[in-house]
Amino acid sequence: MTGRGGVVFVLFGATGSLAARKILPALFNLKLDGQLPEPFVLLGLGRRPLDDGVLAAHYREAVGRHSRRGEPAQADWDAFAVALRYLSFDVQEPQDYARLAELLESQARAWNTLPDVVFYLAVPPSLFATAVQYLAAQGLHRERARVRVVVEKPLGYDLESFLAINAELCRHFHEGQIFRIDHFLGKETVQNVLALRFANPIFEPIWNRNYVDHVAITVAEREGIGERGGYYERTGALRDMVQNHLIQLLCLTAMEPPVSYAPEEIRSRKMDVMNALRRIEPHTIHQVAARGQYRGGWLGGDRVQAYREEQDVAPGSHTETFAAVRAFVDNWRWQGVPFYLRSGKRLAADLSEIAIRFRSVPHCFFPGCVGLNAAPAQLVVRIKPDQGVRLHFAAKEPGYCMCLKPVQMRFNYREAFGTDVPAAYETLLRDLMEGDPTLFMRADQVEAAWRWLMPLVDFWTHNPPPDFPNYNPGSWGPEAADLLVAADGRAWLSPGEVG
Ligand SMILES: NC(=O)c1ccc[n+]([C@@H]2O[C@H](COP(=O)([O-])OP(=O)(O)OC[C@H]3O[C@@H](n4cnc5c(N)ncnc54)[C@H](OP(=O)(O)O)[C@@H]3O)[C@@H](O)[C@H]2O)c1
Repeated sequence: MTGRGGVVFVLFGATGSLAARKILPALFNLKLDGQLPEPFVLLGLGRRPLDDGVLAAHYREAVGRHSRRGEPAQADWDAFAVALRYLSFDVQEPQDYARLAELLESQARAWNTLPDVVFYLAVPPSLFATAVQYLAAQGLHRERARVRVVVEKPLGYDLESFLAINAELCRHFHEGQIFRIDHFLGKETVQNVLALRFANPIFEPIWNRNYVDHVAITVAEREGIGERGGYYERTGALRDMVQNHLIQLLCLTAMEPPVSYAPEEIRSRKMDVMNALRRIEPHTIHQVAARGQYRGGWLGGDRVQAYREEQDVAPGSHTETFAAVRAFVDNWRWQGVPFYLRSGKRLAADLSEIAIRFRSVPHCFFPGCVGLNAAPAQLVVRIKPDQGVRLHFAAKEPGYCMCLKPVQMRFNYREAFGTDVPAAYETLLRDLMEGDPTLFMRADQVEAAWRWLMPLVDFWTHNPPPDFPNYNPGSWGPEAADLLVAADGRAWLSPGEVG
C-alpha cells in the first residue's frame, strides 16, 4: 500500500448498518493484511452522542459478527481501535462542518503532512446533496488529488433523480474525486472475468456470436426482504439489482479488450457496451421483460411470509421482487446473441453467476447422442455461493457403448489458491484509499443504465401487474420468466443444475 501522507477516513453514517456490516469489517481486515495506509484515522460521524470508546465497542462487536475472519484477536483489535474517533455531527447543520474542518486541519498538523481525505457518505441518499454542498462551503472539496467522496447505490430512483444527485455531486467535486460503489465490482470472480477473457488466448476467439448461443446472468437470493420493506417498496428488483449489479456483469462479459489496465480505458470499454444496448421499446415490453412477486409458503422447512405480508410493505403492493430482462448488444461481436438477466428474492438458491452457453454442434454423428444438444457446452463464472469457473461439456460415459454425458471441469478460488478471498468491500476500500477508480462506476455509465431501463421502469410503474403475487418461495421465479426465454426456444438454468 502506498499510503502517501496517510488517510483520514471520514465516515458519515458511522452508527448505521452499512458501517457495521461492511465498512468496518473491511477496514479491520485491511489492517490485518497490512493494506491499511499509515498513518490512518477513521473519523465516524453520526447524530447520536457517543464517545470514541462506545463507538469502538460497537465496532468490535460488529466486526466479530460480520467479518469473514470472525471474532478479532484482542491484540489485533487494540492495534486497530486506536485509530477510531467519533464526532457527533448533523449533516444538515452547517456549523458542524466548521468543526470537521478544524479537526482535519489539526490531524494534518499532528501528522505534519497533508493526508488523503475520504468522505464516505453512508447516510440516506436524500442527504448527499446537503453533505457535498456544506463540505464545499468549507473548502473541503479542494485538493482534487487528495480528497474523494464516496456514494453508494441506490444512485437515484430513476434517470431524473440520478441526474439531480449527480449534478449536485459534480457541482462541487470533480468526476475523478467521486467514487460510486457497486460492491459487485469488488468481488474477486467479477474481476476474474477480465483475467479469464483477456489473459487466456483460448477463450477470446470463441467469445462472440459465432460460438456463443446466449448469455444468462443470474443473481438469485433465498432471503426475502427482511426488515428492509421501507426501502424495497420504493425500489424493487429492477432498480435494486438490474440497474447496477446485473448491468455491470453484462458490461464485463460483453466488453471489447481494453488497450491497457488504465481505469478510464476499462470504464470506457464498458461504456461502449452501454452505447450498444438495444433500446427497449415500450410496445415490446412483454417480449423483453418479466416481473414477479413472491407468495407466502414453505422454504427449506420454514414457513415464510408473502412479500405483501412483510414489515412496512403495502398489502396490495405492486413492487416486483423478481425481474428478468432480455438484452441485445448491437455490435459486431454480439449481434443476435441474447443476454438474459434475472434477479429475485426468495428463489431456490443463493446463486450469482454468468453462464456463457455455446452453440450446439452443427451435426451430431455419435450413436446415442440424444440429449447432447439439450445440455450444450457452457462456461459458468460463479460469483456465489462459491467463487470460481466451471466448464460444462460432453464426455464419453465409461463402458462398452459410445454414450455421451455432460461433465464439468471446475476451478474454485479457495481450493486453487488455498486462501480466503477478500470481501468485495476490502478490495474496494483499498482501491478507494489508493485513489484507483477502476472498479467504481463512472457517471456516464450509471446514466446510460438508467436511460436504457427507463422505458421498462415507466411501463411497470404505469401498468400494475395483474397477477401479483405470482411465484412460490423456493422456485426460480414466475412462469413469465420461463416464457420469456422459451419464446426464443431456450430455458434458464434449472434448480437441479445448481451444485
Ligand atoms: N445497509 C446496507 O447494506 C446498504 C447496502 C447498499 C447501500 N446502502 C446505502 O448506504 C447508505 C447508508 O445505509 P444504512 O443501511 O447504513 O442506513 P442506516 O442504518 O439507516 O444508517 C443511517 C446512518 O445515517 C446517519 N444519519 C442519518 N441522518 C443523519 C443526519 N442528519 N446527520 C448525520 N447522520 C445522519 C445515522 O446516524 P444517527 O442515527 O446517529 O444520526 C446512521 O449512522 C444509504 O445510502 C443506503 O442506501 C446500504
